Amino acid sequence: MGFNELPYGPSPAVGEALHNAAGRVQSYGSPHCDGLRDAIGASNGIDPEHVICGNGSEELLDVIARVFARPGDEILITEYGYIQFALTANRVGADLVKAPEQDFTTDVDALLSAVTARTRVLFLANPNNPTGTLVDTRELARLADALPPQVLLVLDLAYGEFATPEYCAGVHALVQGRENVVVTRTFSKAYGLAGARVGWCHGPDWMIPLLYAARGMGTVNALAQAAAIAALGDMATVQTRVSEIKAERARMSATMQALGCSVLPSHTNFLLLSPPDQNPDTTEAIVEHVFDTAGIIVNRTREAGLEHFLRVSVSLPAHNDLFLGALEAFLAGASPGTATATGS
Ligand SMILES: Cc1ncc(COP(=O)(O)O)c(C=O)c1O
Repeated sequence: MGFNELPYGPSPAVGEALHNAAGRVQSYGSPHCDGLRDAIGASNGIDPEHVICGNGSEELLDVIARVFARPGDEILITEYGYIQFALTANRVGADLVKAPEQDFTTDVDALLSAVTARTRVLFLANPNNPTGTLVDTRELARLADALPPQVLLVLDLAYGEFATPEYCAGVHALVQGRENVVVTRTFSKAYGLAGARVGWCHGPDWMIPLLYAARGMGTVNALAQAAAIAALGDMATVQTRVSEIKAERARMSATMQALGCSVLPSHTNFLLLSPPDQNPDTTEAIVEHVFDTAGIIVNRTREAGLEHFLRVSVSLPAHNDLFLGALEAFLAGASPGTATATGS
């Protein structure tokens, strides 16, 4: 429960598509992911010509940074922004600038104050990982309108499906009529295809050829394309699974809070929580305890300011119960031989 994956295996439709694609594996897949882009366009109400797919959205974040930022440029993110943004900035040799957040949530005014003449890219995940929080589309529109034209606003919607369809549509609408806004999406989370590595980017017309020029030719393999198309063709399964995860998210959060933990409001398939004493040593001990007693791996957030938190992915009810049981036992000091909630 440490990587924000979906706990379900491939749906029958995805399994069948993978099986069929395997029988044609001697052939290359479509380098421009034509069928997949058509399916994405139809499913999201956007022009497939404004879409480029990648080997996970991670590849596209990297491509964007390589196209738009050079050593000496600045890449702007929020205080607790997705760690990959910092790694991407590092890879291109750009200077990383972090704008403070408010209540572990993006602060648009702080971002605007942090923009300089050297800012080239602003990476912003909504909902964000690891906080799980989001800002509404009105605030995002205010940000997009106030940014100077040389700053590319990258809106990472990796967890958008766990917010609402309206939120996703509202974020995509920000690309229309603007030249400096792109949205990235992934099949790794709500679609349950993390291992297939498929992501996509929705951007303005002029930008797509530049992104293709920086992306490898066949980075989205034929099996991955087939799986993603099949997943889009079975939205009922995606929606059912997302609903189950959201219901479990609410149940887990309520239980954790009843145990005295602080839990950030999550719009994702994970929860960020801290123990009642907010002590990083206690957090560390909980992480060890859930592994030792329940075999569960969670993510120990180590970013500055988040040291007392841990991040746990919402899984199947039985797995969630195992986690909650281990957490409760730890907080009750009920497990002999493990550290107690004082974390000393
Ligand atoms: C906010 C965010 N963006 C992007 C990604 C990358 O996803 P992928 O490369 O699997 O599409 C992740 C993965 O955890 C994420 O949390």
